[in-house]
Formats: sequence, structure tokens, C-alpha cells
Amino acid sequence: MTSTQSTNITWHAGSIGRADRERLLGQKGVTVWLTGLSGSGKSTIAVAVEAALIRRGRCAYVLDGDNIRHGLNQNLGFSPEDRTENIRRIGEVAKLFTDAGMIVITSFISPYRADRDAVRALMDEGYFVEVLVDASLETCESRDVKGLYQKARAGEIPEFTGISAPYEPPLDPELVLDTNRESIEESTEKLLRLLDKRG
Ligand SMILES: Nc1ncnc2c1ncn2[C@@H]1O[C@H](COP(=O)(O)OP(=O)(O)OP(=O)(O)O)[C@@H](O)[C@H]1O
Ligand SMILES: [Mg+2]
Repeated sequence: MTSTQSTNITWHAGSIGRADRERLLGQKGVTVWLTGLSGSGKSTIAVAVEAALIRRGRCAYVLDGDNIRHGLNQNLGFSPEDRTENIRRIGEVAKLFTDAGMIVITSFISPYRADRDAVRALMDEGYFVEVLVDASLETCESRDVKGLYQKARAGEIPEFTGISAPYEPPLDPELVLDTNRESIEESTEKLLRLLDKRG
């Protein structure tokens, strides 16, 4: 599914570049890629950071795992192949949003290192910020926000990350948020500070 199927296609360049859009919006586009176990806090942090940015007059937009699976990726499941395709499509969408000048915050488990690295490779240097939302399996399981761990332990959800499917943490993320110890406010502040620092 990842190779280009069409042959008679030509890239049509626009007359407006990224710099024009960034000048118009008064901000630099970026993709902030949150990765971590289910229940680690990706969606919570994404939503809080988005709200804080909007309050500051920034254009920000969350792409959230479950939400995207309701629409764009509703034909994908949780097999390794589908997970890879899920992330590939999101990567392409995030790239478009970033090019449009948005601060994109993605919240997907995105368990495979190679898939995240492929998204990084799509983006220009500095436009992809990988954030490990780090919480132990015990912490996530004790939160069990959606009751999924209980179902996974009961064998009702196959290929559940952390239980019956692997999670590969990033080796060199731009930021680690330890949500075992940090409050939601602390994690949100840390991420906002990083974005400030990077302009
Ligand atoms: N520092 C923190 N940052 C984020 N969430 C935290 C933090 N501390 C505690 N929590 C709690 O952890 C839970 C995280 O749930 P959330 O739905 O955000 O996880 P998720 O990573 O998006 O999971 P999924 O992959 O299943 O969508 C929430 O109940 C939140 O209140
Ligand atoms: Mg979530």
C-alpha cells in the first residue's frame, strides 16, 4: 500500500511557499509527535497543549488516534501492517498541516520505531519533534482510562500494545514527559517551554 500506484502524475508546485504562510500566520509550523502506551497521557497532554496554544493566539490542531480511526483510517485495524499504514497516513497528513503552518500535535501510540522514523524522514529538519509520553505499564494499567487493559488481560483484545504487542520507545526523543511523576500541568508546561525555545 505504500508504493506509488499511479505513473502519470506530476507534482504541481504552488507559487506560495512555507515562508509566506509562516509570515502570514506569525508562527512556524511543526509536528509534535507524542508516542507512548495506551493511558500514558498522550491525548490529555495534546488537548491541554492545543488549548494553551490557542489561548496564546497560535494555530494548533490535534490529530488523535481514536478520532482518526473514526474517519480517515476507519478501514485499518491493529495488525502490524495496519498500524504501519495508520502511522504512514497520519505522517502524510501531519506533513500537510505542518506545511500549511499549523502546530500539529499528534497522539498515537505509534509503537514501532521504524514507523516514527519514517515520519521524521518525511519532514524537513527541525519540523518534527518526537515526545515520549512515558508511564510504566503498571501506571497505565492502574489508570485503565478506557477499560482496555482489563479487556486485554482477559484476552478480549488481541495485539494490545504492552500486553500482547510490542512497544518500541524512541531512542533519542526531543523530550520525555514522565507522567508517572509529573502532573498534567507540569507535562503540558514542559512541552510548551520546548516549543517556545524552538520558536
Ligand atoms: N502528567 C500527566 N499527563 C497526562 N495524563 C496524566 C498525567 N498524570 C496523570 N494523567 C492521567 O492519565 C490518563 C491518560 O489518559 P489518555 O487518554 O490521555 O491516554 P492516551 O495516552 O491518550 O491513551 P490511548 O493511547 O489509549 O489513547 C488520564 O486519565 C490523565 O488524567
Ligand atoms: Mg488517546
